[in-house]
Formats: sequence, structure tokens, C-alpha cells
Amino acid sequence: MTTLSLSDSPATTLAVDALVIGVHADDGRAVPGPGAAEVDAALGGKLAAILASLGASGSAGEITKIATLGATTAPVVVAAGLGKPEKAADPEAVRQAAGAALRALAGSAKVALSLGSGSPGSGNGLLRAAAEGALLGTYQFVTYKSDLGKSYKAPVAAITLIVPDAKDKAAKAEVKRASALIAAVQQTRDWVNTPPNDLRPPAFADQAGTAATKAGLEVEILDEKALRKGGYGGILAVGTGSAAAPRLVQIRYRPAGAKKHIALVGKGITFDTGGISIKPAQGMADMKSDMAGAAAVISVMLAVAALKPKVAVSAYVPMAENMPSGSAYRPGDVVTMYGGKKVEVLNTDAEGRMILGDALARACEDSPDYLIDTATLTGGQVVALGHRISGVMGTSDGLLGRVKDAGQRVGEPMWLMPIPDEVRAGMDSAIADVMQIVAGFDRGGHMLQGGAFLREFVGEGVEWAHIDIAGPSYNTSAPYGYIGKGGTGVPIRTLIELIEDIASNG
Ligand code: BES
Ligand code: MN
Ligand code: ZN
Repeated sequence: MTTLSLSDSPATTLAVDALVIGVHADDGRAVPGPGAAEVDAALGGKLAAILASLGASGSAGEITKIATLGATTAPVVVAAGLGKPEKAADPEAVRQAAGAALRALAGSAKVALSLGSGSPGSGNGLLRAAAEGALLGTYQFVTYKSDLGKSYKAPVAAITLIVPDAKDKAAKAEVKRASALIAAVQQTRDWVNTPPNDLRPPAFADQAGTAATKAGLEVEILDEKALRKGGYGGILAVGTGSAAAPRLVQIRYRPAGAKKHIALVGKGITFDTGGISIKPAQGMADMKSDMAGAAAVISVMLAVAALKPKVAVSAYVPMAENMPSGSAYRPGDVVTMYGGKKVEVLNTDAEGRMILGDALARACEDSPDYLIDTATLTGGQVVALGHRISGVMGTSDGLLGRVKDAGQRVGEPMWLMPIPDEVRAGMDSAIADVMQIVAGFDRGGHMLQGGAFLREFVGEGVEWAHIDIAGPSYNTSAPYGYIGKGGTGVPIRTLIELIEDIASNG
């Protein structure tokens, strides 16, 4: 993986292949940002004129390369657009600019960044953002390329961040934090991008268990036999159609002196065909990403093991492959879930809530102070909020607000959605305790139906938040900023931010 280090040497003297500076947009022209002063001086005060002659506008995501011809030790200066002037101090603008620059610089070995974190008094917020964005922008998934070819551009190997004092303890801690956190994000991106034939539930559970054990965490994996013995009817129903059996992976982090306990649950459908209620062929391959919630939760545990917050965190991760077959569950089935509730199945494609119901009920047995699940649960989330904003529902306004705010701080936008009484009422079953979806395959408010169903499995009084990441966890469009094609790692950084918030503030 790419290394990250700090330097307080003048940016213009660093032995790197490229030096990244920030520029913002002023009336359609690029204006050098706070980290660009030394470069401007080295270029005889002509940086703005050079940028103008190249037509640079300073808009967000814009990358302009300048040959410095000996004026700086770096042969190339890269001007990364931050957008409007007020964005110069916005962590997300810096994160996106750093990511865009590092994507554009693939093929270079060493890169330095001067994006404002070097200015005295800028604090470490921009340093954190630059570190995260830069590392995120190096991501590539080439595991399945047998020949990378002559034009292949390897990710940048070494990133140097320019700061006022490279020996500053808080700045060094930011480097360590970003390295651990982004390693976790890259792990999730790898898992999400891995083809579904190579990541069926037993393999996924093995990989999760191996990684978590290596990180020093407690691991317990329930296989199909243990799931049957434990009465995990939802996980078993979905998994029964596949030749690869389901799993429930449990991972625990219990530091001494922790005052709170957070439980995390993530949807791990390693491939979602829809089952007997089969999906159309168009786009079905993207359903390899239906385990993005599981991957995120497992990766959060790996990051927690490295960051060591003073709060207990437990993960409950159900994994199954949703296939149509002679042994598959079917519409009309009544399934007895973990804890005894009976669910009338109407559509086998609403499988996420079946495996999550079991896991939520199991998590509540351990009396967590906070319970958070994340899942690629509904196409309705994408319809309502698009590809970049996750939908958040739950039982506690306090927790929901904290989840949304944490997402805002880390650049993973979220929006609060209701769980209306009439939606839940539409799920009353004539023959069982609850129906899995609203009767008559009502197309309205699918995301809310998912939330209403999951709430049935949350214990009385437990503060619970559900994050539907169907859109934001997987980018099917062109790369932008620090996001490439495929798995994004949403909502790992939000969950870590929230865990650190709870560790400090309860
Ligand atoms: N995994 C899908 C949801 C999804 C859709 C994720 C698009 C990412 C992108 C989920 O299991 C599903 O199929 N949901 C159905 C539920 C319906 C049958 C009630 C949906 O949203 O259409
Ligand atoms: Mn489905
Ligand atoms: Zn699904």
C-alpha cells in the first residue's frame, strides 16, 4: 500500500515527481490557494498567469498540470480545483481535490501535497482531509487482470503531506489514523469488487475471520449447523437456495474501561439474483455489491482494532447468497425468525431484511447502548435520494442526528427518512406476525418499508439507526474525486467518526 509521511521542508525543494497545490474558482479563473505561495514565488509570481494561459477555472475536481522546468525540484506542479473560494477551508473540497490529483497522478512514484494543511493555524482538519483523500485516490482493483499491459499506471507509492511542523504529535497521529482508516476502506472496496463466484458466504466469512483474528479481535463464526441449532430462520431461509451455505460472523472489540457498547450489523448478500422472485438480467451483475454493508462493518472492526477507541464495539454480520433453485425459499413461505417472530414472505428479492432481522434480534440480546445497521437494502433508496446520499431511519432522534452529522463531517452525506405508521400497518399479515413487504407489491416508499420491517427486530428501548446505502456504496458511473468505479467504502468513515464521538461523549 501507498505510504504516507509528513514534511516541513519548503514545498519547492522536495524530491518528488509531482507537487499538488490547491486552486479555487474566482469568476471562472483559477486562483492559487493557501498552500501555493511558495510555488508562486518560485515561478516568479506568475502562477496565476500560467493557470490562466492553460484555461484553468479552479472548479471542483479540475486537474491542471504545469511543467516547472527547474523552478521547483518537482518537475510537475499539479493544480487541483477546490471550487468556490469559501471551499478552500472545506475538508470535503480538500479531500475530493486530493483524491482527484492522486488518481490523475497514477504512474508517478512520489507525490507531495500542499493543500492548505501547511498554513500555520489551519489546524489538523485539512491535514486529515488531504491524507484521507490522497490515500483514497490511489485505489485500484487489478486482481483479475492477467496482463496489465504497457500503458498500465501503478498507484502512487509514496505521499508526502506538507505541514508547519513534521514532528508535531497531533499531525503524526493524523497520519497513523488516516493510514489505518483508509486501509479499512480499501479492504471493503476489494471485497465489494471481488467477483461473486470468489466471495460466496463461506469464503467471505473465512476472510473476515482471518483478518479480524490477525487484528487481535474476538471472532465467532456460525456455520449452517450452528445457525440451525440457534434458530436463525431468516438467514437459513435466504441461504437455502444456494449450494454455498450461509454464515453469521460475530466480531468483538472489548477494551478495558469502556462505558458504552455499540452493536453494528451489516447486510452480507454475496450475490442477489432475487431468488424465485428473480431480478431482470440487466444490471444483475452489480448485485455482487449486495454485501457492501457487511464489508463495511467488518472493515470498521479492523479500523477499530487499530485506532483503539475507548468504547466496546460488536459486529453481527449475516452472509448468504440469494439464489433460485429447487431448495430456495419461496413467496408464500412463513419463516420463523431468530427470537420467534413469524414472517410471511411475499417476495424473495426482499432478502436483506430477512437476514438482518435475525442479526438485529441477536445483537439486541447483548443489550447494546447503540445499534446501527447498514445495508444495500432497497432500490427505493436510490429512487428517493440518488447515488450519493444514504437514507437513515431509526428509533432515536438523538442517534439519527449524530449519524447524519458524522456523515456530513466525513463527506458521506445522509438524509433522515421517516418510518410512517401506515407503512408498518400495510405489513400486517393475515396468517403470520408480519409481512415482509407491504401487500400488493406497493411501489411507494420502498426504503421506508425496509425500515419498518427491520424495526420489528429491534429490542424495546434500544437506540437504533438503519443506514440504507444501496446507491452510495457502489459507483456505477465515472470516477470523481476520491471515488473510483465500483465499491466506495461508504459508510465506513461515518461509522468510525460516530464511534469516536461516542467514545468521547457517550
Ligand atoms: N439488493 C437489493 C436492493 C438494491 C437495489 C441494492 C439496487 C442496490 C441497488 C434488494 O435486495 C432488493 O432487491 N430490494 C427490492 C425490495 C423489493 C422486492 C421489496 C427492491 O428494492 O426493489
Ligand atoms: Mn433483493
Ligand atoms: Zn439484496
